[in-house]
Amino acid sequence: MRETITARRGGPDDIPAVLSLLDVAVEWLVAQGRTGQWGTGPQSTSPRRLAQAEQWARAEGFWIAETGGVVVGALVVGLPADFAPAPSEPDLYVNLLVADRRRPGQGIGAFLLDHARALARAAGIGLLRLDCHDAGDRALVHYYERQGFTATHPLTFGEWTGRVLEQRL
Ligand SMILES: CC(C)(COP(=O)(O)OP(=O)(O)OC[C@H]1O[C@@H](n2cnc3c(N)ncnc32)[C@H](O)[C@@H]1OP(=O)(O)O)[C@@H](O)C(=O)NCCC(=O)NCCS
Repeated sequence: MRETITARRGGPDDIPAVLSLLDVAVEWLVAQGRTGQWGTGPQSTSPRRLAQAEQWARAEGFWIAETGGVVVGALVVGLPADFAPAPSEPDLYVNLLVADRRRPGQGIGAFLLDHARALARAAGIGLLRLDCHDAGDRALVHYYERQGFTATHPLTFGEWTGRVLEQRL
C-alpha cells in the first residue's frame, strides 16, 4: 500500500536529510553500474554539493516530501540553471529532485513533480524545465518522458552528457 506523501517548505534544518538522500541515491546508482551521473563518492562531503546545499537551504523554492514525518524526497525549483538555454517564455526550473531510493515505486518523485507543476501554475507560469544525465540506456531521460517532459537541448561538460527537458503546462 502506498503511504500518504505530503509537501512542506524546506529549510536549513532539512539539509542533512537531503544530503543523506543523495548519498543513498549514489549508492543505488553505483550498485547498478550507473556511475556517470553523480560519480561514486558520497555527496554529503562533496564541496560542490555542500555549496549548492547552502543555496537550497535559503531558496524560496525548497520543498520537502514527507511520509509519516520522515523526509522521503526533496525538490528545489527556481530560476534556470545558468547553462540551460534561455526559455522561449517564463519558466520554472527544477534545480533538484531526489526521492528516497529505499522506497522505490512509491511515486515520491512524481508527487514532487506534480507539486512543481502546481507551483508554476499558481505563479502563472506555463513552462516547467529541468536537466538530467543522458547517457547509456537514457533511463533517466525516459523516466522524465514518462512524466510528460520532452527532451530538448543536449548538454556536455567534459565526459558528462545531459539533456534539458521541458513540459508545457
Ligand atoms: C528520479 C526520481 C526522483 C524518481 O522518483 P519516483 O517518481 O518516485 O520514481 P522511482 O524512484 O520509482 O523511479 C522511477 C524509474 O526511474 C528509474 N530511475 C530513477 N532514477 C534514475 C537514475 N538516476 N538513472 C536511471 N534510472 C533512474 C528507476 O529505476 C525506475 O525505473 P523502473 O520504473 O523501470 O523501475 C528518483 O528515482 C530518484 O531520486 N533517483 C535518484 C536521483 C536522481 O537521479 N534524481 C534526478 C536527478 S535529475
